[in-house]
Amino acid sequence: MTLYRATVLDAVGEDLAGCTLRVDEDAGIVVRDGTIVARGGFADVAGHHPGEPVVTLDGGMLLPGMVDTHVHFPQVRVIGELGPPLLEWLDRHALPEESRFTSDAYADAVAREFVRGLLQSGTTTALAFGAHQAAAVDELFTVAADEGLRLVAGLVVSDRMLPAGLLCTPDEAYRRSLELATRWHGVGRMRYAVTPRFSLSASDPMLEACAALLRDIDGVHFASHINENDQEIRAVKEMFGAATYLETYAGHGLIGRRSVLAHNVHPEDGELDLLARSGASVAHCPTSNAVLGSGLFPLRRHVDAGVRVSLGSDVGAGTGFFLPKEGLQAYMIQRLLGAEGYPLGARHLLYLATAAGAQALDMADSIGDLGVGKRFDAVWISPAVNPVLASCLANADSPEDALARVFTLATPNDIESVWVDGVLVGGRGR
Ligand code: GUN
Ligand code: ZN
Repeated sequence: MTLYRATVLDAVGEDLAGCTLRVDEDAGIVVRDGTIVARGGFADVAGHHPGEPVVTLDGGMLLPGMVDTHVHFPQVRVIGELGPPLLEWLDRHALPEESRFTSDAYADAVAREFVRGLLQSGTTTALAFGAHQAAAVDELFTVAADEGLRLVAGLVVSDRMLPAGLLCTPDEAYRRSLELATRWHGVGRMRYAVTPRFSLSASDPMLEACAALLRDIDGVHFASHINENDQEIRAVKEMFGAATYLETYAGHGLIGRRSVLAHNVHPEDGELDLLARSGASVAHCPTSNAVLGSGLFPLRRHVDAGVRVSLGSDVGAGTGFFLPKEGLQAYMIQRLLGAEGYPLGARHLLYLATAAGAQALDMADSIGDLGVGKRFDAVWISPAVNPVLASCLANADSPEDALARVFTLATPNDIESVWVDGVLVGGRGR
């Protein structure tokens, strides 16, 4: 057992609107076999656990590990290729890069950059788009298991509109996905996600193959894109003769409690109703939406409709792995929306980056906050090498104000330690 002494902040609650910030300025957290077995004031907890080794996390704050609900493994090396809108960016930047993953050596090198990039940014759990190549996805799972990341991922499947090397038939998609899921789903911290890229690149038979995978793999997840860009939405509706984008997935039974759809910048009211009723989640990717000029995310409409929203970095259209940056960008976008925006406080930002992601991945019983019974997935942010952050934390009016300073000023360099299941997996101190 280990007894951690720290200032602990986490965000709890059923939904974004009702979330609250829990603060223990001098907390004791006891971790046994990776699980939090006690939490309270340090003096009290230490009194009940005499003789346990104490690890003092002096300065800054201990937060739950962050949960990135939308990120692309084969796009690490296109981060920062700024410029065009979605469809052109895919053609010119993302897809040529993703075509390189036929090389096992290339896939292995990028998998290491990807997994280390996430862990060094305080992300302990990710829902990742894999590659279009099965061997590369296998490599991603292998590296994640090796490094300790909690990962939900899958083979990206498409049968049209992409370069030939990225396509497969619905039968191949079914077979290759099932093979990967059999190897990895439920193994250690790994889970499988059925992952058609988006309906623009997936025909009805391909989406039907995805539906068969959802039926045949117990507890599997579903990930895709929706309503990101006006031109994309028009093309999807035309191609399917559909009234809404969501219908192209929902018509195949692909939308449920373990479905996470990225973006949804331009939803219709009926789509929000259906997402809420089915318990599906939307991964909000604020820096990507800004970089690609996709639009301003209507968070208030999602919240009013009762749709679950979490955060995604959307690397490589997004600007990096660090989820607090996505939180800050989400805050700024809502400010820019004026009266239509949803006012976000620091507690909301923490909730979006942690507990909301755990819910989206149906893991809220084990991760998302630092309460008793949860796994010790945690991030220690320390201002030790950042004098401006140190000064702002010292001058903060309240713990929530201090948390706002972290979302505004912290960078991955300010992460001292990252744990998954109580094991040190990242940070300056690793
Ligand atoms: N839609 C389909 N593929 C992609 C992708 O790689 N990135 C983003 N942002 N949207 C997509
Ligand atoms: Zn994406």
